[in-house]
Amino acid sequence: MPFSCCLSPLSGKVRNLLDSLCPYFTRFPLSFPLDILKKETRSRLVLDPFCGCGTTLLAARLTGHRSLGTDIHPVAVALSRAKLARTTLEEVLQRAKDILSRESILEPEENSEFFECCFHPEVLKDLQLFRQRYHREKMDDTEELLYGILLGILHGPVHKGPYLSNSMPASFSPSQEVLFARWRSDHSSPPARNILQCIAQKAYGLKGCPARPSFGQVEQISFDQIDSSRTHSPFDLIITSPPYFGLSNLCCGQWLRSWLLRENSTFPPSGREMNHTSLQDYTNTLAELWQRLTLCCREGASLWLRFGKVPESGAPPTLELLDESLTRAETQWIMRQAQPVDTPLLRPSCPSFESPSSPPEDEWIIHLRLQN
Ligand SMILES: C[S@@+](CC[C@H](N)C(=O)[O-])C[C@H]1O[C@@H](n2cnc3c(N)ncnc32)[C@H](O)[C@@H]1O
Repeated sequence: MPFSCCLSPLSGKVRNLLDSLCPYFTRFPLSFPLDILKKETRSRLVLDPFCGCGTTLLAARLTGHRSLGTDIHPVAVALSRAKLARTTLEEVLQRAKDILSRESILEPEENSEFFECCFHPEVLKDLQLFRQRYHREKMDDTEELLYGILLGILHGPVHKGPYLSNSMPASFSPSQEVLFARWRSDHSSPPARNILQCIAQKAYGLKGCPARPSFGQVEQISFDQIDSSRTHSPFDLIITSPPYFGLSNLCCGQWLRSWLLRENSTFPPSGREMNHTSLQDYTNTLAELWQRLTLCCREGASLWLRFGKVPESGAPPTLELLDESLTRAETQWIMRQAQPVDTPLLRPSCPSFESPSSPPEDEWIIHLRLQN
């Protein structure tokens, strides 16, 4: 998708719909990138090398800045692309109807016992049709948003929204064994849902929304593959949150969403997840990141980080770890400001299921500037 340079104002309803499209573990609140970008008076080229569900990209869209997001996880890429889509509720619904009426199921489901307990037979049939049709690199904006919506309603607590699954958390998928055990003990069965109505209910905020251009781009690559030739100019501003040390396996919790996207549900998909094998390796990877960002940013560029640690990880204090990695990188990222965060990264709670990690602690918002 080429960069365009028109503004793309979005109403509050559309903005809220896109921000709450799908829970994503460890996403930061929209206010973090939005407050930074609102203050920029000139048009900027913004990068988020760990874009997750696309919060920075949405903030850039809302404030009229160009952006590039990268992430290695296919679910992150699909959600980020959905946040940049320009389309309307009518188009999304029409496309969903077309897929359901024209396609027929070609591929039988492998693990049918699990899927039969998770989804009502009619819902499973429709999901299989959508799944069969998914082709990451061949979709237009309407399909990008449609699949973002489907990811958002795929699973969650039955009585709390238009979720398609038997009751389970919305923010992550526990293992099949844990889910089976829970459903058996609760004698719960999957709800009979009309998938088109669920899509419409989730996407209602888009009603009457005119298709407006946005100017962001998302790529499924690792941070060490980023270079500014993709954008034809160096980045002015980076707003990001690298994976915290010890929070490495959370993406396993996206296995059911990965299934919908026909992706291998084991993570990392490309073997490139940020290194968590030891603190030493992790610090070296951070140093590699600062070096890579130096190469693709203009002099004077700003780097805004939201960074912290997991209590049980044994990591040193956050600012010490950052300082060590900056020293190892031997680059000119100079710390200008560090402020502790009082609201942790978003971890939607799911009381009846154990969460895969403790909440992060010692979290900071840090501003660095690239000097020559
Ligand atoms: C803390 S989350 C970012 C959340 C994001 N700020 C948001 O609001 O959704 C970190 C992200 O880094 C991604 N990631 C891990 N290793 C990566 C790598 N080597 N290159 C690019 N992305 C990576 C993970 O898939 C995850 O989405």
